[in-house]
Amino acid sequence: MANNKTLSNAKRAKKDEFYTQLVDIESELVHYKTHFLGKTVFCNCDDPYESNFFKYFAANFNHLGLKKLIATCYDPSPVAGRQLDIFGQGILPKSDKKAYKIEITEVTDVNNDGAINLADVEYLIKNDKNVLSKLDGDGDYKSIECEKLLEDADIVVTNPPFSKLNDYILFLHEHSKKFLVMCNHNIVHYTEIFPLIKDNQMWLGFNSNKTVKFAMPDYYEKWDEIIDGVKYGKVPSIGWITNLDITKRHEDLILYKTYNDFDYPKYENFDAIDVERVSEIPCDYYGIMGVPDTLLDQYNPEQFEILGADGIPQSAIDLGIGRIGEEWMKKYRANGGTGHYTANMKSVVLVRNGIAKKPYSRIFIRRKQKPTEYASIEPSVLMAAEGTE
Ligand SMILES: C[S@@+](CC[C@H](N)C(=O)[O-])C[C@H]1O[C@@H](n2cnc3c(N)ncnc32)[C@H](O)[C@@H]1O
Repeated sequence: MANNKTLSNAKRAKKDEFYTQLVDIESELVHYKTHFLGKTVFCNCDDPYESNFFKYFAANFNHLGLKKLIATCYDPSPVAGRQLDIFGQGILPKSDKKAYKIEITEVTDVNNDGAINLADVEYLIKNDKNVLSKLDGDGDYKSIECEKLLEDADIVVTNPPFSKLNDYILFLHEHSKKFLVMCNHNIVHYTEIFPLIKDNQMWLGFNSNKTVKFAMPDYYEKWDEIIDGVKYGKVPSIGWITNLDITKRHEDLILYKTYNDFDYPKYENFDAIDVERVSEIPCDYYGIMGVPDTLLDQYNPEQFEILGADGIPQSAIDLGIGRIGEEWMKKYRANGGTGHYTANMKSVVLVRNGIAKKPYSRIFIRRKQKPTEYASIEPSVLMAAEGTE
């Protein structure tokens, strides 16, 4: 009989088998085209026969000016090399479930049909022994041979197993690799990832916090719809994390509200104001503000500085967030609050209109003073520029 551990492993493995649709890859990748010229791209959680990441880069190999495209397949994947079959022809025999890699260094009209497209990639895979080869191990992204491929690659792009997301991102970061990786929005609260976001070593991509429809293997028991015989499931809070520079990250959030102490109460246990909605960040407040974590979808490091996050113990220590305290707890329970909080927890709380409230998923930020260079300009020059002389 299967024990609990086996069952939870199986459950986790199941959740890792979501396959990204081409349209979702295209809508993100369109913003990064300039990054790929002359680069080696590695899709290291991608069975080329079921991965649209491989398909995207193979189809756009010349358009992006890639130097090389590598994809490695994970043998323990229940659909390795046989399920979705992006070329539609079942190139690998169904029984040949092994880890392998595909390396492409050029895409030309090898099949002489007058066009350069995926048919040429398919032809290459079938006919060029240097393109498709078996791996010695199981294709784990951390295996020695995949790590070696990673070292030779410039940019990693994929949707990795979400159960290993924390480890996966840290692994890429430790290897100083450029990456663009699909993720769950929750990643911003991972204890080891948040400090890297705070220090501007990685950030969220263009599409964030969206509900995305993924293809699922046949054996999944729950799905939202079946299209052309393929099961699809909708997953909320999906986005991208990257360390590739993007224009979005340099665009200021337009701020129109002004500060007042009624709309923006101070926390009971931390010297900062609470902002309920990102769109309501006051334009004239330069102290610490607690804002919803969705700010990270629009975060421009030239406009704001990230100081910490609620719920991350090291942030509470660094920022000096105090205990919730007995008094607030009493008020909260008297208001009918049932949350699992205790007086000793170090997490921000407030009282708004006499009601004890616990804000959700706050990150702490501060506006950057602008523009500091004014300080060094002679007042007469500034006045002339502004027409006030
Ligand atoms: C969420 S799926 C996405 C597949 C593909 N990248 C896509 O976007 O369609 C993650 C894939 O990673 C594979 N995987 C799980 N653990 C892995 C590991 N340690 N190393 C490499 N791949 C792994 C899973 O089998 C699964 O196929």
